[in-house]
Amino acid sequence: MRAWTVPAGSKSIDELRAVEQPAPAAGPRDVVVRVRATSLNYRDQAVVAGQYFGGAVSRDTVPMSDGAGEVIAVGAAVSRFKPGDRVAATFFQPGAPPAALGSPLDGVLREQVALNEDGLVALPDHLSYEEAACLPCAAVTAWNALFRSGRPTKAGDTVLVLGTGGVSIAALQLARAAGARVIATSSSDEKVERVKALGASDVINYRRTPEWEQEVRRLTSGRGVDCVVEIGGAGTLARSMRSLARGGKIALIGFLAGREGDTNPTPLMMTGSSLHGIFVGDREMFEEMNRAIIVNRITPVIDRVFPFDEAPAAYKFHASGAFVGKVVITV
Ligand SMILES: NC(=O)c1ccc[n+]([C@@H]2O[C@H](COP(=O)([O-])OP(=O)(O)OC[C@H]3O[C@@H](n4cnc5c(N)ncnc54)[C@H](OP(=O)(O)O)[C@@H]3O)[C@@H](O)[C@H]2O)c1
Repeated sequence: MRAWTVPAGSKSIDELRAVEQPAPAAGPRDVVVRVRATSLNYRDQAVVAGQYFGGAVSRDTVPMSDGAGEVIAVGAAVSRFKPGDRVAATFFQPGAPPAALGSPLDGVLREQVALNEDGLVALPDHLSYEEAACLPCAAVTAWNALFRSGRPTKAGDTVLVLGTGGVSIAALQLARAAGARVIATSSSDEKVERVKALGASDVINYRRTPEWEQEVRRLTSGRGVDCVVEIGGAGTLARSMRSLARGGKIALIGFLAGREGDTNPTPLMMTGSSLHGIFVGDREMFEEMNRAIIVNRITPVIDRVFPFDEAPAAYKFHASGAFVGKVVITV
């Protein structure tokens, strides 16, 4: 079968390699999935660039965590799935401790993958494979941030999402479905109308308005927001804290604005707010989110789809930042 690998020691997208691998066999509790679509997350860029936690991969590794496809075979002891079922893999696969697809485990940028049945969820019927491939990392992270960590987001809340990538746009969609107002930030004026069309009430250009927390406070009549989907990390955390309403929360997810910092935590204390570290989520959260996606007929936002042979071009387009939501590779 065809696969792409990140070679041991890889430092750039140009090192991605197309290879032939033997098709996987199913162990007793495994399900063999014919992967139909995958989606890129920021971490996939870090893995191929040798900058993911721990540095470059130490063995040739099939990249990417997020995939959806069709069950083509099951092991003798499998009870949750049967051939023909449409499934997506969970980001963390069962194990002690659980481990992530795409590093350290081999990922889904290949035609077939064999996974333990407990590392899969059924797809919402209304989603295509491309749309479903957007869910396992970005959307589950957004679900965990909004509804499972700290006070759950509810109707009438205001949520601030930083940037317009996979996690932030999933959070926008899920928060709107819960009846919340969403304010977004973006580096790009071109993205403003697209993000408003998805339901953001306001979009602040954080390059032209570097003190965007003041604009957040102005837009909320001084009250601040109930939740910040914080994908900037050390570089944005201080402003996120100053964006909060009393009793608000920050879901700390990413580090796109810098990993090192010396942030004064006093604003959290003064507003009685909380800070929650988020690391994707588990299968139960994925299934809970899928129920909300079905009820609310949510379809993930795909900016562009690339064919399997053009995986390096997909990585380069994603690395350019010139997208809203998700970039997908079909298999
Ligand atoms: N902890 C977890 O469980 C978890 C899970 C998923 C992702 N993450 C992390 O969360 C972050 C986002 O991941 P992703 O996959 O959603 O990324 P992505 O799809 O690649 O989106 C990146 C977007 O973030 C925005 N951005 C970049 N620098 C920014 C800055 N300084 N301030 C505000 N926004 C900025 C940009 O939006 P504009 O072009 O609109 O400015 C960019 O398009 C990454 O750091 C990733 O590692 C963590």
